[in-house]
Amino acid sequence: MPLPGGRPAALLPLCLLCLQAALPLRGHGGRYAGDKVIRVVPENARETQILRAAFNRLKVDLWQPSSPFHIIEGTVTDVRVPQNTSRSLLPYLQQANIQYTILISDLQKAIENQTGLRSYRNRRSLSGYNYEVYHSLEEIQSWMHHLNKTHSDLVHMFSVGKSYEGRPLFVLKLGKRSQLYKKAVWIDCGIHAREWIGPAFCQWFVKEALQTYQTDPVMRKMLTQLYFYIMPVFNVDGYHFSWTNDRFWRKTRSKNTRFRCYGVDANRNWKVKWCDEGASFHPCDDTYCGPFPESEPEVKAVAHFLRKHRKQIKAYLSFHAYAQMLLYPYSYKYATIPNFSCVESAAYNAVNALQSAYGIRYRYGPASSTLYVSSGSSMDWAYKNGIPYAFAFELRDTGHFGFLLPETLIKPTCTETMLAVKNITLHLLKKCH
Ligand SMILES: *[C@@H]1O[C@H](CO)[C@@H](O)[C@H](O)[C@H]1NC(C)=O
Ligand SMILES: *[C@@H]1O[C@H](CO)[C@@H](O)[C@H](O)[C@H]1NC(C)=O
Ligand SMILES: *[C@@H]1O[C@H](CO)[C@@H](O)[C@H](O)[C@H]1NC(C)=O
Ligand SMILES: *[C@@H]1O[C@H](CO)[C@@H](O)[C@H](O)[C@H]1NC(C)=O
Ligand SMILES: [Zn+2]
Repeated sequence: MPLPGGRPAALLPLCLLCLQAALPLRGHGGRYAGDKVIRVVPENARETQILRAAFNRLKVDLWQPSSPFHIIEGTVTDVRVPQNTSRSLLPYLQQANIQYTILISDLQKAIENQTGLRSYRNRRSLSGYNYEVYHSLEEIQSWMHHLNKTHSDLVHMFSVGKSYEGRPLFVLKLGKRSQLYKKAVWIDCGIHAREWIGPAFCQWFVKEALQTYQTDPVMRKMLTQLYFYIMPVFNVDGYHFSWTNDRFWRKTRSKNTRFRCYGVDANRNWKVKWCDEGASFHPCDDTYCGPFPESEPEVKAVAHFLRKHRKQIKAYLSFHAYAQMLLYPYSYKYATIPNFSCVESAAYNAVNALQSAYGIRYRYGPASSTLYVSSGSSMDWAYKNGIPYAFAFELRDTGHFGFLLPETLIKPTCTETMLAVKNITLHLLKKCH
């Protein structure tokens, strides 16, 4: 069968077999020395098919989208190509007449650029904690303990369970204590380990709340009328691993003995159309859905907490990177949610509020049609379990730095995102019909 574009099908798969995957052992100079991040935008069905096949075979690290199934004609594909693989992949793409651009030419250098800068800088700012650097898990947890002690009027820290490797899953309950029933908002960050700007935002949110509560009437209203449950690092094992072993680790760290692969995608493991479209059954894939729904102790613990508090929790907000998008359900199918107009107008106002800070534009809409179809996501699960406002943020940027967003961009990214979150929260306090 001829492929669209008129080439005989036999030509390309022929070469596909010559493509070599990287050897697991790497030379000196760091794990990512010589690795590149390239961007391809497939222009037609032929190119889409070639890229899916090549990236599936090579098992390269897809940054955007997160799996080869999601490569879509006309949309951006960013992929980390190990040095050995790029020697055969780049000529292959040229031969197939597929245009690509190099986003990052040496990933190890890009990582060292960040960590190098960090070591010169004092991790604590003059006024105390430094919110403009990325923090390790240990630092984030001791920060939480510290706030639990020093701000016991507004902060209560507790654990919802334990991770696969036995770490506590800490959550901060933020808000003015009240005898009366209060609605609540759930915020989680760091479901995907390598998306470091997420946990940095969760910390920023708590900082802003505590610093402006006295002076900002909007924040005062938020903390008076609502509780916020904030989980700064959802995937604690993966986040720790991304600091100690592999900066681009995405999944949890549970072990699959049969395939000798680690981890499940904690955003494909929820019991909502579990392991359907946009998730993988293969334990070595980055979008592996797990052996069964809620197989991951982190997902199970949070699902249990949300189920228990579903009457109280009116909004579920989950923070990811990168794409600059504000997404709402459904993720697993192309369909309009029953509460479309309320949710849509909340998203519209939120992205406008966000843009008002630095002019950064976010796309917004149902996750399926705005990003891609994926099943078993926390956002769909929250919505299906009765939380009427469920959103997933994909924070900065759109691929220039990708997961290596520089620490100098933490402040602007978090400042503008705060405006969006405050806007959604106020929307929630109003009646919407
Ligand atoms: C190094 O980091 C700075 C800011 O942190 C950034 O402006 C610059 O582009 C980075 N260089 C590379 C090669 O990534
Ligand atoms: C937070 O502080 C309270 C006392 O104010 C304490 O009971 C609780 O155990 C602390 N939480 C954690 C996780 O240590
Ligand atoms: C929310 O965003 C809309 C649109 O930009 C704006 O009109 C409204 O004032 C914002 N509300 C708050 C509290 O920021
Ligand atoms: C729609 O939202 C309202 C609150 O704004 C809520 O009471 C209702 O249950 C929601 N319906 C659905 C189907 O989510
Ligand atoms: Zn993510």
